[in-house]
Order: sequence, then C-alpha cells, then structure tokens
Amino acid sequence: MNKVLQGKTVVITAGPTYEDMDPVRFLGNRSSGRMGFAVAQAAADAGADTTLVAGPCQQECPTVTQRINVRSALEMREQVMLHIDDCDIFIGCAAVADYRPAETSETKIKKDGGDLTLRLIQNPDILAGVAALPNRPFTVGFAAETNDIEKHALRKLRNKNLHMIAANQVGNGRGFDCNDNALLLLYPDGRQQSLPCQAKCSLACRLVDEIAAEYKRLQQQHT
Ligand code: CTP
Repeated sequence: MNKVLQGKTVVITAGPTYEDMDPVRFLGNRSSGRMGFAVAQAAADAGADTTLVAGPCQQECPTVTQRINVRSALEMREQVMLHIDDCDIFIGCAAVADYRPAETSETKIKKDGGDLTLRLIQNPDILAGVAALPNRPFTVGFAAETNDIEKHALRKLRNKNLHMIAANQVGNGRGFDCNDNALLLLYPDGRQQSLPCQAKCSLACRLVDEIAAEYKRLQQQHT
C-alpha cells in the first residue's frame, strides 16, 4: 500500500458503546467494530501514527500505534479528547449510543412485579465535538442508515460540520456484523463518490486513499 498518510496522526473510533444499567445489564448495539478496525489497519498501513479508541468488540486487533479500550460513550469521548490535540485526521467509525440510562444502579435491578420504565438521557456527540474544536482536524464521519441514505448523511455532514461523510446501508443483513460493505462518500461542496460493495478491508483501503487525497487537496488550498 502507498504510504499516503506517512507522517500524519490519525485518531479513529470503532465498535459499539455499552451503556450500563446495573452491574449485569447494559444497552448496546449491533456494531461488530469490523469496519472501524479495518479503517484503523488501512490508516496504519498507509503510514499514519494511528490511535484506535475502541468500544467492546471481539475483532482481531489491527497493528496500530496504540489501542485504547473503552466501554461507554462518555469514556470514548474522554479518550478521544485526550488524544486529539496533535491529530491531523479524525475518523468517527464507532456506533456511539445516542442515549444512556439516566441512572446506573450499583446493585442488580430487581423485578418488583410491575413494568420497569427506563429513563434515558442523551450522550454527547463525539464527532460533532471534535469538528467544533477551534483547531479541528480533518474530520470524517460515518452515517449508518436504514433508509434515505443520501438525505440523512447530507444532514449529518452539514449539522456536524464535517469535511467528509461515508454513508452506508444497515439493516436486513447489511452493514453491521457482515464482511462486505459499500460506501457513498459525500463532501460539503456537493461532490459524491460511490465505493462499490467489497470486503470491508479493501473498502477501508479505498476510503483511506480518498481521505488522504481530500486532506491533501484542502492543505494545498490553504498554502
Ligand atoms: N457519533 C458520535 N457520537 C455520538 C453519535 C454519533 O461520534 N454520540 C458519530 C458516529 O461515530 C458517526 C456519526 O456520528 O461517525 C453518525 O452516527 P449515527 O449513529 O449514524 O448518527 P447520529 O448522529 O447518532 O444520528 P441518528 O442516530 O439520528 O441517525
């Protein structure tokens, strides 16, 4: 692989987050971490100093500079913010839980014969937080959508003020927990590019090539 990111520092989030209800139960999602780990491997292979901040997942660890394991969205945000200062490129691949239980019980929640109402509060948006930093890195998001992919992804690209978003279809056996994926790349100036369905590792290499090319294009514009 060409060393298109030689000398660059990349931070990547991957996997799900788990939001604890009590010591034995949590709210999670179906992300396997496969795509994020493949992107981390591709970035490292492209020569980047790569930090992977990973939620709970069983994937074989890519050969990155460092891997930091986290559990919840709050832990993920804390670790991202600790490592973002000298970062050139941030890629948010994680399926971060949008909500967490308002309270985490220190002891196992017991049935009391009736229904249980769980109050959820919103988690911070890690990607939007990075993109709002005064010295923001080149910021790439993912959009996992079941429908109206382009419309939802465009809204996220604009609302979160990203340099690029990679949208993909999830549900009905696509996206989560499978080996193949396809991506639609969207840019703020309206450009679009489709990366056809292929194994997640080769798709990740294509994505990293596109990220490097766009990053360099913007760098050249500012010099
Ligand atoms: N993301 C994040 N922190 C959150 C939620 C999302 O960093 N609390 C990032 C994801 O890593 C991904 C992008 O935002 O790069 C889009 O995530 P997604 O779950 O598709 O969208 P949401 O913004 O959560 O919107 P919705 O759930 O309404 O589709």
